[in-house]
Amino acid sequence: MLENIEKLNKEILDSSAALKDKDSLEDFRIKYLSRKGLLNDLFEDFKNVDKSQKGAVGKALNELKILAQKTYDEKKADIEKSTSSESSNIDYTLPGRRFNLGSKHLITQALEDINSIFTRIGFKVVDGLEIEDEYHNFDALNTPDYHPSRDMQDTFYLKSEGKDMRYLLRTHTSPAQVHIMKSQKPPVRVIIPGKCYRNEAISARSLSMFHQVEGLYVDKNVTFRELKGTLDFFVKEFFGKDLKTRLRPSFFPFTEPSAEMDVECYLCNSKGCRICKYTGWLEILGCGMVDPNVFQQVGYDPEEYSGFAFGMGIERTLMIRHGVPDIRMFYENDIRFLKQF
Ligand code: PHE
Repeated sequence: MLENIEKLNKEILDSSAALKDKDSLEDFRIKYLSRKGLLNDLFEDFKNVDKSQKGAVGKALNELKILAQKTYDEKKADIEKSTSSESSNIDYTLPGRRFNLGSKHLITQALEDINSIFTRIGFKVVDGLEIEDEYHNFDALNTPDYHPSRDMQDTFYLKSEGKDMRYLLRTHTSPAQVHIMKSQKPPVRVIIPGKCYRNEAISARSLSMFHQVEGLYVDKNVTFRELKGTLDFFVKEFFGKDLKTRLRPSFFPFTEPSAEMDVECYLCNSKGCRICKYTGWLEILGCGMVDPNVFQQVGYDPEEYSGFAFGMGIERTLMIRHGVPDIRMFYENDIRFLKQF
């Protein structure tokens, strides 16, 4: 019996090096460790061992069993480790998974486009303030206090108790003109993009917050013709086409003369459609020559300097450029809308 045990011991040690895959390991298990395996046979035979030898034989037999089990466990772990990294079914030739990258919001893209178009022709981009006072938003812009745009229905006033000035959310970007001109001497050539607020009923065409880009150019001998040339250049660059434009006489308290600019409706090639209300033209901005009264407010001599200003509604312009039917779509953040730009 002891000889047999010795023999199996040697056999197990010798064969362990050959246990390199699942099949050979399974053969090993069946041969030694299974219910009908050699070790169980020996344990069966153990019953017949002479009492005097039982101690020695039992010990040897147990050691053999431990060796066999240990060999099996170790090899099994080795094989599992190597197969799991090799055969995890990765096909390295497949194209990688795409990440859904975020992108800039349409409004941000448009503002960046506009900034770059105007910086190319010498304009500087500056920031204005969203919280203004009545003086900058209205008075300095030649807008007297009986002007309808000062009505509570249009303007969001802030609680300004104890302050000598009424504060408000700017209703247009024009007050930034006043800050700029008060802080520097001509020549001034700036654009001021930003948010504006008006207490409007929310509808497909208006929101209580929207974006404008203000433009201001003041120097000696600035003419209306330069205003038109600048705006035509902008339209061509922004819409990517040589669209016709037209200036219609209009009124703003802070410009004289004043005009509104229309571009030909390129959605229908000026034939007339729902978007242009069957006129063939779309309005995109207000503009004009800076009123002498404004120059006086900021300390510029209206006899020496002249200038033009314009203010463009961004959402409006984008609705035209992309045929967006409802202004609210810009702020609903519906991914199906955002993805298109
Ligand atoms: N601020 C005007 C508006 O909001 C637009 C404008 C700007 C008109 C500059 C003329 C000059 O409607």
